Amino acid sequence: MGIYVWGIGCGASEVVEKGLAPERIAAFVDSSPSVERFLNRPVLLPEALEGKDCDLMIVTIRHTEAVAAQCAALGLPEDRILYLKNSLTLTDRNSRCTAAKALLGENLLERLLPRYHVIPEPAGGASTALPREALDGDYVRLATLELLTRQLEAVPGAAAELGVYRGQFAGSINQLLPRRKLYLFDSFQGFASEAGASAAFQAAHEATSIQRVRSALPHPEQAVFKPGFFPDSLDGLEERFCLVSLDVDFVQTTLEGLRYFWPRLSSGGYLLLHDWGNPGLPGVAQALEQYRQELGGVLPAVPLPDRSGTLVLCKP
Ligand SMILES: C[S@@+](CC[C@H](N)C(=O)[O-])C[C@H]1O[C@@H](n2cnc3c(N)ncnc32)[C@H](O)[C@@H]1O
Repeated sequence: MGIYVWGIGCGASEVVEKGLAPERIAAFVDSSPSVERFLNRPVLLPEALEGKDCDLMIVTIRHTEAVAAQCAALGLPEDRILYLKNSLTLTDRNSRCTAAKALLGENLLERLLPRYHVIPEPAGGASTALPREALDGDYVRLATLELLTRQLEAVPGAAAELGVYRGQFAGSINQLLPRRKLYLFDSFQGFASEAGASAAFQAAHEATSIQRVRSALPHPEQAVFKPGFFPDSLDGLEERFCLVSLDVDFVQTTLEGLRYFWPRLSSGGYLLLHDWGNPGLPGVAQALEQYRQELGGVLPAVPLPDRSGTLVLCKP
């Protein structure tokens, strides 16, 4: 049985420490090996694999794309490659690897598989409360949301989202804060005519409904829908908030959202300003800058390296 391990560093030794006996490893593979043997097994150059029977390649190094290209050049099919260091890539290459379970067994495979390292693993629990599909959408955005919600236990207030669309992000907030009321503000008919949305952008955002959002919520009983154009849709609402997602794409509504939510955010709470770093939606950063000037001070904030450049404002 030809199990090979790509890499001769810490990742490779971890595989052995976690239970894959060195005798089961045909050889280690390395592009520039510094030794001829590792853990008493031979170390081969990738090209030496040509013509060898490789039932499973366990890749323990980080250069996933480069290794994938080399494996493809060697004719190694994807269903025999298991990547252990792809926890920050958003496509799960391992879903194609059917050989791993058969050769390693479910228990060892579970121990070897990469976890989402950004989320600290609570003792005995799962590493993340969010479903895989949600994280694949925008791992950094969603994993950060999860970490932030874990800081909110002692922070009073409801959660809210202004700009809900089909409820994807709202569903994650609702899942992570199941005991908080969740206010959902959206026109459910796209942008106000003066906002500046193109016809296609507008058409895309019209295709939603309250029913559709409700069905995306794991705890719909916590939802309070506020349909209509913001800020009119507030209708005199007075609340305190622990977490607010502000995601309305254009300058005026973003500014109105900041004016309403920031003063009502509890100390220790967070406001997630989506698209702040998105060059395609410059009005979001403009609105923040204007609001900063109105306040005449600094807004403590952390930028995220997520897909759309969220800025997390932290209430002192
Ligand atoms: C980018 S989408 C929100 C996406 C959602 N936050 C998510 O991540 O799944 C923007 C939404 O803002 C809503 N919106 C924009 N301006 C609005 C306004 N003045 N009042 C109410 N909703 C508004 C649009 O209808 C649209 O559904």
